[in-house]
Amino acid sequence: MDVLTALLLLVHLIPVSTAKNGVSSKSRKRIMPDPVTEPPVTDPVYEALLYCNIPSVAERSMEGHAPHHFKLVSVHVFIRHGDRYPLYVIPKTKRPEIDCTLVANRKPYHPKLEAFVSHMSKGSGASFESPLNSLPLYPNHPLCEMGELTQTGVVQHLQNGQLLRDIYLKKHKLLPNDWSADQLYLETTGKSRTLQSGLALLYGFLPDFDWKKIYFRHQPSALFCSGSCYCPVRNQYLEKEQRRQYLLRLKNSQLEKTYGEMAKIVDVPTKQLRAANPIDSMLCHLCHNVSFPCTRNGCVDMEHFKVIKTHQIEDERERREKKLYLGYSLLGAHPILNQTIGRMQRATEGRKEELFALYSAHDVTLSPVLSALGLSEARFPRFAARLIFELWQDREKPNEHSVRILYNGVDVTFHTSFCQDHHKRSPKPMCPLENLVRFVKRDMFVALGGSSTNYYDACHREGF
Ligand SMILES: *[C@@H]1O[C@H](CO)[C@@H](O)[C@H](O)[C@H]1NC(C)=O
Ligand SMILES: *[C@@H]1O[C@H](CO)[C@@H](O)[C@H](O)[C@H]1NC(C)=O
Repeated sequence: MDVLTALLLLVHLIPVSTAKNGVSSKSRKRIMPDPVTEPPVTDPVYEALLYCNIPSVAERSMEGHAPHHFKLVSVHVFIRHGDRYPLYVIPKTKRPEIDCTLVANRKPYHPKLEAFVSHMSKGSGASFESPLNSLPLYPNHPLCEMGELTQTGVVQHLQNGQLLRDIYLKKHKLLPNDWSADQLYLETTGKSRTLQSGLALLYGFLPDFDWKKIYFRHQPSALFCSGSCYCPVRNQYLEKEQRRQYLLRLKNSQLEKTYGEMAKIVDVPTKQLRAANPIDSMLCHLCHNVSFPCTRNGCVDMEHFKVIKTHQIEDERERREKKLYLGYSLLGAHPILNQTIGRMQRATEGRKEELFALYSAHDVTLSPVLSALGLSEARFPRFAARLIFELWQDREKPNEHSVRILYNGVDVTFHTSFCQDHHKRSPKPMCPLENLVRFVKRDMFVALGGSSTNYYDACHREGF
């Protein structure tokens, strides 16, 4: 057995937890590093394989866990697209041969795969806001195009959808059997991988849905900031964050040496190799068990990979410490969080619209939301990551509404900055909705330092 196979087998075992109620240390370790069960030194290959999120047996999750007297009111799901082909090529090497058509006799497989393809082929442009209607509804190239969703990516989201179906529809009856179009809110960026990921999740959630009841909105911004994207201070935070990143890279001589070696192997200037973001392509090799590329000068190898991945982990650690990314995130995530609490508040008033919201997005969408919520210890969004907001009503006190926040199936409600202290003071299993509302309406801006108490002022602060 080669090393890669051994590691892949290992990762297949990781999500399997035997705990009955899902509250196990094993499920926690998917997002928060756990000092008890994890190796003391972060292992770059272990981290990379978690990022691949290779589908395996049904995972345990804590979505929908609530005492009997709680009623599920609405659910808001943010996903990262599933496994995709690289966005970059390593110069002068053959790109990995991965087939993006969907076929039953290839792993990973999902029992709904063929039905999904057949249902997608009946879809019509009327279900999509322009320009989404020009995109293919499922991946279909025998040699994947750049950034194309793979079969693995489709299976990941069919699984996500089915898991949410079992919990939210079968168990908690979030939607009636004859659900209507306005009970769903669907939004995606304009990439085929996000649209197709959203469709795969939706198909797992509502198999054989009526196309006439589906409408996907197009979101031009990866921050999902729609009408509120203009925010100069956010951009200043981002520039400072990029400067920090650049300086950290310059300090890492081992990293520079590794890029130099790889550049020599593929025979291009180091600068060109670095600009081709080789880790993106190497992750694809790793996730698909395809060996790294070789030239007559030698092979790109696992040692190169480990150095670059270790640097990424180090970069994330420094990013948390320096807080520039936090400033960027608080402003970047405000519009979508504001929209979400708006939807929740309408649901608490008894309105029956938009009870299930799905935002199909990118790592650069989920990452700022996690950071803004105070979940800075959470792992970087893996392929097909899911971040879920659940809204609940206490039947014994119908005026009280509460939220739960889940990341990849793990309940992180009490890790958020707006509910960290709550469970120490209160025996309640959830966080009051007001905490989230107060955070989004005011405390997010207070967290930025300065004296701003609203989005507009925080975005236009002078002398930052
Ligand atoms: C990985 O690829 C090797 C051959 O390159 C193969 O023998 C092995 O079974 C594969 N492992 C997995 C987990 O697919
Ligand atoms: C926040 O949401 C409310 C409606 O719920 C809207 O009126 C307001 O403009 C939004 N603010 C921002 C900055 O997006």
